[in-house]
Amino acid sequence: MDKLVINGATKLKGDVVISGAKNAAVAILPATLLIDGICTIENLPHISDVTLYCEILESLGAKITWNTPHEITIDTRNIHSAQAPLEITSKFRASYYLIGSLLGRCKEAVVGLPGGCNLGARPIDQHIKGFEALGAKVDVGQGKITASAKKLTGTSIYMDIVSVGATINVMLASVLAEGTTTIDNAAKEPHIVDVANFLNTMGADIRGAGTDMIKIHGVPKLTGNATYSVVPDQIEAGTFMLAAVASRGDITIHNCITKHLESVTAKIIEMGANVQEDGDTIRVWCNKRPNRATVKTLPYPGFPTDLQPQIGVALAIADGNSTINESIWESRFQYTYELNKMGAKITAQGKSAFFEGVKSLSGSPVFATDLRAGAALIIAGIVANGTTEVHNLDHIDRGYENIEEKFRKLGAKIKRVSE
Ligand code: EPZ
Repeated sequence: MDKLVINGATKLKGDVVISGAKNAAVAILPATLLIDGICTIENLPHISDVTLYCEILESLGAKITWNTPHEITIDTRNIHSAQAPLEITSKFRASYYLIGSLLGRCKEAVVGLPGGCNLGARPIDQHIKGFEALGAKVDVGQGKITASAKKLTGTSIYMDIVSVGATINVMLASVLAEGTTTIDNAAKEPHIVDVANFLNTMGADIRGAGTDMIKIHGVPKLTGNATYSVVPDQIEAGTFMLAAVASRGDITIHNCITKHLESVTAKIIEMGANVQEDGDTIRVWCNKRPNRATVKTLPYPGFPTDLQPQIGVALAIADGNSTINESIWESRFQYTYELNKMGAKITAQGKSAFFEGVKSLSGSPVFATDLRAGAALIIAGIVANGTTEVHNLDHIDRGYENIEEKFRKLGAKIKRVSE
């Protein structure tokens, strides 16, 4: 196992280029199973969730050529299995997209129950509700989900809860169904729009992605024969915006879509940071201790839950007392115990955490409990005085490409060493 050794405190300064979005890539890759043809995908982030997904697709019969570390050409004309390797699918959350895509392509799917970040119960009842509404029979047992359908018929589905995964999964299952499917109370995240744009580029007929009502007109097949570029990662961009605030630095973030970050921009300006937008670039600088703030995470376009730990670091050292209300996940404050080891004064209770701002943090060995908590602990190590060791890097490597390299180019004293 590796660890990151970080010596702070450093004010981050310079430029960073954002990679393709993890949460778009891990849906677009399984979506290729719906294509009876060949396609090319550009701007893939080179992260373990992506390479893991490519292994699964090849085990199902796909032929993948890596043109560059960020671009693949994939041939999904000969899919010979609808059973995903259970030992791999349990390693991450997004493996559940295999159900929707295999059901759509093969009218059957056998997929291991998903793993992924430990954020509390992560039910998939809305996914199952959608598949059954389309005419599938779904069983969950022996650690796997088995779905099958004689035919998939378009229908209207109302999501009881706004769910990114369920919205995408039902979209995948309905692309080749007979008739029209409407998903009401759909999630609106940028990666949902990206998956819909990818599918439409390959021959699907999906309208309304990005709103709370998505209409999918079933088509007989997706021919592919096209190239698609994955959207820039809104969460990676937000991670570096918040690193600029917490470290009182000055970072210019390239290759991002400013519209996707409006809630983050508004919040950091409230905290006293400066923001300058110019096309696909955002510059964030903060010359003083951040102001206190109140944060409530919400589905897009609200403040993203996936940036909650990262803003938590800035609030831990803010001038005054702050509150975070985590409305999406029931257990996403584990990182606060790690920050308290570094001298923070945070009390987490259920879905809320109370921050008593301290002047500074001090280095300590800390343990990443999930992907975004890991990113937050790296930021904490950069702003803390002294040496911090961040353990459990496999969480971080799932979703951030060369994160220590990107921070090092911004001036961080950070290196990866083996335990
Ligand atoms: C996606 O998870 C992301 N993961 C998560 O990002 C992100 O935190 C989350 O969306 C919210 O934005 C991927 O895209 C791979 P949900 P997902 O279904 O789809 C409840 C990261 O750091 N729910 O939108 O699993 C659920 O319990 C990861 O990149 C049901 O009750 O999230 C939660 O409270 C962490 N029943 C809420 O809905 C269901 O059937 C939102 O979950 C599905 C979800």
